[in-house]
Amino acid sequence: MRVHLNTAGAGLMPAEVVDVMADHLAQEAAEGAYETELRHADTLDKGVYEALASVLDAPVDDVALFDNATRAWSSAVGALRLTGTGRVWITPYEYAGNLILWTELRRRTGLRVEVVPLTPSGDLDLDWMRRNIREDVAVVSVPHVPSGCGIVNPVEEIGRILAPWPCLYLVDACQSVGQLDVSVRRIGCDLLTGAGRKFLCGPRGTGFAAIGPRLRAAATPLFHDLHVADVTALHDYEVHTDSARRFEYAERSAAAVRGLDAALRHHLARTAEPGTGHDARAAIRDAIAAVPGTRLIDPGTRHASLVTFVCADVSAARIRAELAARGVSVWVAQGNHTPLYLPGQGVDHAVRVSPHHYTSPQDTEVFARALREVIR
Ligand SMILES: Cc1ncc(COP(=O)(O)O)c(C=O)c1O
Repeated sequence: MRVHLNTAGAGLMPAEVVDVMADHLAQEAAEGAYETELRHADTLDKGVYEALASVLDAPVDDVALFDNATRAWSSAVGALRLTGTGRVWITPYEYAGNLILWTELRRRTGLRVEVVPLTPSGDLDLDWMRRNIREDVAVVSVPHVPSGCGIVNPVEEIGRILAPWPCLYLVDACQSVGQLDVSVRRIGCDLLTGAGRKFLCGPRGTGFAAIGPRLRAAATPLFHDLHVADVTALHDYEVHTDSARRFEYAERSAAAVRGLDAALRHHLARTAEPGTGHDARAAIRDAIAAVPGTRLIDPGTRHASLVTFVCADVSAARIRAELAARGVSVWVAQGNHTPLYLPGQGVDHAVRVSPHHYTSPQDTEVFARALREVIR
């Protein structure tokens, strides 16, 4: 059995997720895809949205499905009516894809993009935020957990700081939904985005967002698809919902959506049960720290199940390959995917180790042993 420590890439799908998707594809092949969709309309049009709303602790009208987290993010953020007078706050932990969109919006509108500073510990400087927040801050964008290191940013506390102000608050929860208790209601954000395939252990090709009413009111999507809009005249169309679904496209992989539904339900059932008590993150962190020559990339005071490190003598690519040869799957995090933080730490590639609830004490022991063999 392989030891899978790449949940931050894609988690291992539970059997019921695989079964429901295989079954869906078999039905499509036998009966036709539209006919199969009709048969499962209850899940596809309702059940999956209710499950997602429940996992995110968000109103069901606010949730929408996409084919990945970046599509969710760019569909909502790209539709914002931003002007050159607005300031956008991002953090050094911003994901590169999100940053590309900010750069494009800056080029188009002239808005100012500012980076919230860090304290010496690597935490976001919340006092700086309290002191500097003003009416002209139009948007604040925070990743709950970044792509390239395991800091957990205090998104609920930031939400409380921002609550009295008019800015929109966006949270990239791609690496946190499924591993941390994420509540849109408690965070108080206007947008929260994520991917199905990571800590939710759903299929690839699924992403989602909670798009709150304030963001919906501040956005004009360039396009509305036919599940939410009707052409009414040569020069007119009507959108017949204000729900977040108006940011979606109509066509999608129904098998993947049903797989996501199964993953969401599996997550809800699993998190209702007591955990095993095994702190895989701590075991992995200790195992890395015990190997001479390694450097943990470990900023901040709160940490998620995502540990990155570099080694002076052995490249991240080599460590990944050597661990893979010993049955242990980890991944290489590219510094330029967290471009405002990792390169400044002298990191262009790091080894990323991301366990999940399925990681046993034996798994972390296998990792520790293999790592000691690879880095001597
Ligand atoms: C923090 C973060 N945001 C966004 C994304 C983009 O997700 P996707 O690949 O589903 O578009 C990732 C992907 O790894 C990520 O780690």
